[in-house]
Amino acid sequence: MTCNYALLSQVVSSSGLSPGWPPMMMATAAMAASSCDRGDTRKKLQITVVFLVRTLLLACIIARGVLALIRVAFRVAVVAPARSLVAVAGAAFSAVNARCAWCLEQAALGRSCTGTVLGDAVVGAMASSWRLLLQGITSLVFLCARGADEYVRPPPSPLVLTAHGKPASHPQQVHISMVGEKNMRISWVTDDLNAPSVVEYGTSPGKYTASATGDHTTYRYFLYKSGAIHHATIGPLEASTTYHYRCGKAGDEFTLRTPPARLPVEFVVVGDLGQTKWTASTLSHIGGGGGDYDVLLLPGDLSYADLYQPRWDTYGRLVEPLASARPWMVTQGNHEVEKIPLVEPHAFKAYNARWRMPFDAGASPSGSNLYYSFDVAGGAVHVVMLGSYAGYAAGSAQHRWLRRDLAGVDRAKTAFLLALVHAPWYNTNEAHQGEGERMRRAMESLLYEARVDVVFAGHVHAYERFTRIYDNEADSRGPMYITIGDGGNREGLALKFIKGHKSAHLSEFREASFGHGRLRILNETSAVWTWHRNDDQFATVRDEVWLHSLAAGEPAATVASAAGGGGGHPADEL
Ligand SMILES: *[C@@H]1O[C@H](CO)[C@@H](O)[C@H](O)[C@H]1NC(C)=O
Ligand SMILES: [Fe+2]
Repeated sequence: MTCNYALLSQVVSSSGLSPGWPPMMMATAAMAASSCDRGDTRKKLQITVVFLVRTLLLACIIARGVLALIRVAFRVAVVAPARSLVAVAGAAFSAVNARCAWCLEQAALGRSCTGTVLGDAVVGAMASSWRLLLQGITSLVFLCARGADEYVRPPPSPLVLTAHGKPASHPQQVHISMVGEKNMRISWVTDDLNAPSVVEYGTSPGKYTASATGDHTTYRYFLYKSGAIHHATIGPLEASTTYHYRCGKAGDEFTLRTPPARLPVEFVVVGDLGQTKWTASTLSHIGGGGGDYDVLLLPGDLSYADLYQPRWDTYGRLVEPLASARPWMVTQGNHEVEKIPLVEPHAFKAYNARWRMPFDAGASPSGSNLYYSFDVAGGAVHVVMLGSYAGYAAGSAQHRWLRRDLAGVDRAKTAFLLALVHAPWYNTNEAHQGEGERMRRAMESLLYEARVDVVFAGHVHAYERFTRIYDNEADSRGPMYITIGDGGNREGLALKFIKGHKSAHLSEFREASFGHGRLRILNETSAVWTWHRNDDQFATVRDEVWLHSLAAGEPAATVASAAGGGGGHPADEL
């Protein structure tokens, strides 16, 4: 009697292997076993079971191989083309978007986009509907992505787009920044790439007794190509002196005044500027009735170009009247990052090219345009510009540099030590809650040990002033924290302050209005901070506080006074 299929299957089923056993393998096993003869059935069955297990393993290996092959084939045939398609579609999308935005902007500036009236009408209509569609989709995604009771910004203010309207060789977007205490970097743009990077200057109008030659750079951003961005450093210059200068041997004469060599000195501080009607109002308050000042400090978020590069140019033209007259010392905000995966992998391309800061000058060069420090008033004031969007963790280049920089500060000479960041470390506004927390944990102790007097921040589009703080507690040896992100950008104000916030008892004044601040350092011990809001027709002081330098030992109690009504929290009543 042969070991037939029926017997085999019986045995196999009694050993618990049968259910689900592929019939094909059963047949194979049966065939293999069919040559056996009677007697020692156990041994034959053992052999059969081993055979079956091996067959199963082999089948598994083959199946895995086939699956791997299928996976590779899928990757080659489907995933890679899909990725390329997404990249191409993304690029095409950005191209159409950039072109539409450009046409709309040209129309806003009263210029033609296609060269023909009919073409302009057609392209204009298409661009407008594209924009509407885009805005619709964005708002939908945005609304779906956030909770129902979260803060929704008020409607944006119209942009103020500043045209050039002069020959291509004429300098535009002129702004200046300190390079050490004796020199000034003059930065400007020409559409003409061959315009010379020369600045002629002197102390009388039209009489240039000196000149300096710098260089220029350009950058490409997707389909946009910048004009020539010139930087030339003039000096040594006399302190507190008015200089007249001309860039590129063409165009207008500009006038600047150098900061003083000793106290007193006055800073304007304004963040999150943008280029709207609100911005224009802030700039007119700063440059107009607000009183004169020496240096402007900007804690991040300049143009709100948000990837659309021509807005860096319109912004440069909007701020030129002020930025060509007093040094504008800026640090970066989130709107300067401008990184697009695949298309524009390098962050800060426009910002670094256009707003070059003295990171390679002074006593402690940082090596990065994203953070640096500088002295004013003969070293009586040291200003540390930190980068909220550069690495700041312990051990990072910025952290190591900050430690080094602060170690070099001699508080016997430096009466006031200021620091600027973008995302605030203390904030009771609903907007951007907790975004500065990681940086605070990484760097707060360094600033505290150096007895930094004030930390300015932007990012939150409102004004808020805290008492002196260290590690979430009121501390008379800690910095005063001030959020001044109310410059006037298109996103509008951050209206909601959180009443029961854990830092609310440390917050001494908060109000969601556009405006700017001024820090007037009077002498080695005293300074006065004022906040000026735009709502008032004339530059009115809405919040005022006196500061006692931390270098001068234990400070006397600060005396706060609010013009509007006893230093209350007006925003709470909203
Ligand atoms: C600094 O200025 C304040 C305010 O004007 C004044 O009260 C104080 O006496 C001055 N201190 C010194 C050392 O001059
Ligand atoms: Fe911001």
